[in-house]
Amino acid sequence: MRTVRDIRVLENIPVLVRAPLNVPVENGTVVNDYRLRRALPTLTYLREHGARIVLISHIGEQGTETLAPVAEALGKLISGVSFCGETVGERARAAVRALAAGDLLVLENLRRNAGEKNNDTAFARELAELADIFVEDSFDTCHRAHASIVGVPEFLPSYAGLLLEEEVRELSAALQPEHPALAVIGGAKFSTKEAVLIALLEKYDHVFVGGALADDFLKAAGQPVGKSLVSGADPDHIKKLLGNPKLVLPVDSLVVAADTVGTPGAHDAGRVAAEGQVRDEESILDSGPGTAALLAELAGKAKTVLWNGPLGKYENGFTDATDAFARAVAASGAHSVVGGGDTVAAIEGLSILPKFSFVSTGGGAMLDFLAKGTLPGIAALDNTLFT
Ligand code: 3PG
Repeated sequence: MRTVRDIRVLENIPVLVRAPLNVPVENGTVVNDYRLRRALPTLTYLREHGARIVLISHIGEQGTETLAPVAEALGKLISGVSFCGETVGERARAAVRALAAGDLLVLENLRRNAGEKNNDTAFARELAELADIFVEDSFDTCHRAHASIVGVPEFLPSYAGLLLEEEVRELSAALQPEHPALAVIGGAKFSTKEAVLIALLEKYDHVFVGGALADDFLKAAGQPVGKSLVSGADPDHIKKLLGNPKLVLPVDSLVVAADTVGTPGAHDAGRVAAEGQVRDEESILDSGPGTAALLAELAGKAKTVLWNGPLGKYENGFTDATDAFARAVAASGAHSVVGGGDTVAAIEGLSILPKFSFVSTGGGAMLDFLAKGTLPGIAALDNTLFT
């Protein structure tokens, strides 16, 4: 992969950087700047070499949010940051022209333009016309075939940023794990996890399925799941994986009366259900202590641990199994690779993030990369006309 280090001349050159600025904002304030801090090596490199830095990103799903508070938060980490309330057009072009060497400009949320998600060629060209060079450093969005990700590299000499380079190096290494190797995949939606589970079952010794994802597996295995969240995935697909001896499922669950899910105190009123003991009116909200102990044992013996996705309904306070596993991995001597917004937030909440060997800034992007070994946004850099 060609990276920013391969760019020969940067002094006074406008460089368009697809940056990981999709961060959580509450009441106009960034509440977690982890991705911004991870963007700094590339931004610092470009600044030290005198580039005029133009940052583009989306924030939020729909394009209704603004990047203004993100520009403000970034300005606390690196000086010389300004913000323009347009993404393309004359005001954006004027703001780029006004940049001095080493200055940074954040343009408004890409998804305000329908052309972004549609990978519209005219929109990609307009973005490309803002600069002379493109740098992709938003690993978290490289699984999306959007205009700023796969369209822009068709018009500009394109390079990987230092964060993207590190993500690709570390996650590629995770696909050749040292054994024994344990993978833990939580969260929900079997359809978005099937490919990665198949890939990991080939390469890892144990693949544990947790979170709401496990409900689909327990159901397909003929166990009662009461009113638990199931995804409606094709049971035949799940049964194929169930037959794999490397697959590990929860051996017990924390369950609550289904009508109390989301209410205060639901967690404390829950009970631990042994395998096959979930009642009709109950919902599984977390793995139980027996499962946490099993995972701690596997992590303790592992040389590699790969983890994406919480093990319980974390946002409703069902954090026990996730926290216990995070602590077990941190205490193990294993090479640990972790990703996914909720998982990383959980580990950060315990103040043990530095104990993990590599923390990916990707959620879905990490899973897709592990499934396929590349992503559309990475392949687009190879396809650039200027290689
Ligand atoms: C993420 O947070 O996973 C990435 O920034 C991608 O965001 P998206 O799911 O809205 O495309």
